Amino acid sequence: MSKADLIVGLQWGDEGKGKIVDHMAQTHDYVCRFAGGHNAGHTIVIDGKEYALHLIPSGVLNPDAKNIVGNGVVLSPEDFIEEMKQFGTLEGRLFLSDKAHILLPYHAQIDQAKERLKGDKAIGTTGKGIGPAYADKIARVGHRLGELRHPEKLATKITEYFEINAAIFEAMGVETPDYETLLADLRRYKEALEPFICDTTQLMWEILSDDKKVLLEGAQGTMLDIDHGTYPYVTSSTTVSAGACAGLGISPKDIGTVTGIAKAYCTRVGNGPFPSEDLGEAGDRLRKNGHEFGTTTGRPRRCGWFDAVAMRHAVRINGVDRVALMKLDVLDGFEEIKVCVAYEFEGKRIDYVPYDLEEVTPIYETYEGWRSTKGIRTFDELPEKAKHYIASLEAMIGAPIEIISTSPEREDTIVRGS
Ligand code: IMP
Repeated sequence: MSKADLIVGLQWGDEGKGKIVDHMAQTHDYVCRFAGGHNAGHTIVIDGKEYALHLIPSGVLNPDAKNIVGNGVVLSPEDFIEEMKQFGTLEGRLFLSDKAHILLPYHAQIDQAKERLKGDKAIGTTGKGIGPAYADKIARVGHRLGELRHPEKLATKITEYFEINAAIFEAMGVETPDYETLLADLRRYKEALEPFICDTTQLMWEILSDDKKVLLEGAQGTMLDIDHGTYPYVTSSTTVSAGACAGLGISPKDIGTVTGIAKAYCTRVGNGPFPSEDLGEAGDRLRKNGHEFGTTTGRPRRCGWFDAVAMRHAVRINGVDRVALMKLDVLDGFEEIKVCVAYEFEGKRIDYVPYDLEEVTPIYETYEGWRSTKGIRTFDELPEKAKHYIASLEAMIGAPIEIISTSPEREDTIVRGS
């Protein structure tokens, strides 16, 4: 019986999980997604060819690996089919849970309409329909991939749903799908996806029993988790490691090493609290050096300093065994580097994440910068000041930093102790 290795984001997403997942996917038999939808995204370049991954697990880039999309995911057939086109046949290498929920174009319309109506209170979602698809699931009016096996039945149910909610949808400006078009779309989805739809829970149990090497790939980050993030400015799924169990039908005892991914600084897209955000020159410089623009939406990311308080929270919630610290080289050339070490909250210094992060003021410590870490591949070669920065973060967050990334290149990665 093997245990599954797990990768989770420790900040607000975009930590650079792609590079580590891609690296680890080379040595795993199965790569599995457990939550989120096509709101996530990373680009991987192999032999000069660019691949954009949103929902297909990164194992697709290792010809020997197989890929599972678990029940915790919301899947847009339209976007998934488009994403599949980048690859040759995936038969025998891709398994989609019959219990994953279907995200349809009207979910995106609802998402965008709600954001519009919220005005300056908008969450800043990706507009992909993630929230409405999960809302339907929880309200028990969603549809699962298994239902694609019977398109007529599914088209009828969706049409009835629109009839019941006609007044609401009309007020929001959401179009009622035309029955014939809807049915034709569902038939097309069935044809493209049915060969991959199966009971992935059973499959997970089998592969773990067969001692396969299994990698669980998280999406987004801990601070965007529906329960443990900066609610309501969060995504609509469980992004923390516990979500891997519910989202794939495995038990906590099936989880092995948990690798948490964090950037050497911090970013966030969308609205909501971000205590260590830097709205000045330093933030601009981080954005420019780190190419901090969204993969899915192209939006500029908000940038700021490493938040050790939020990170300690994330390390504990996820049961992180080791941290991969990404984009260390983006801090190259800064004279001073700040780290948020505590918050001021209601006149007191606190070292935990309170109910409302909006109410805190960051307390910083300042570290001396270094010239360059770009492309360094061994820990010993790092400038002393960078080593000191890393050691200080480790002491604050309560987990070892075992992997350090010093450029986007696959090889420019320090793995300590190897
Ligand atoms: P939604 O997931 O589209 O509903 O968006 C909710 C919040 O999560 C917004 O602030 C998004 O910017 C953020 N978000 C969703 N997916 C990602 C991601 O992959 N990286 C970073 N932020 C994300």
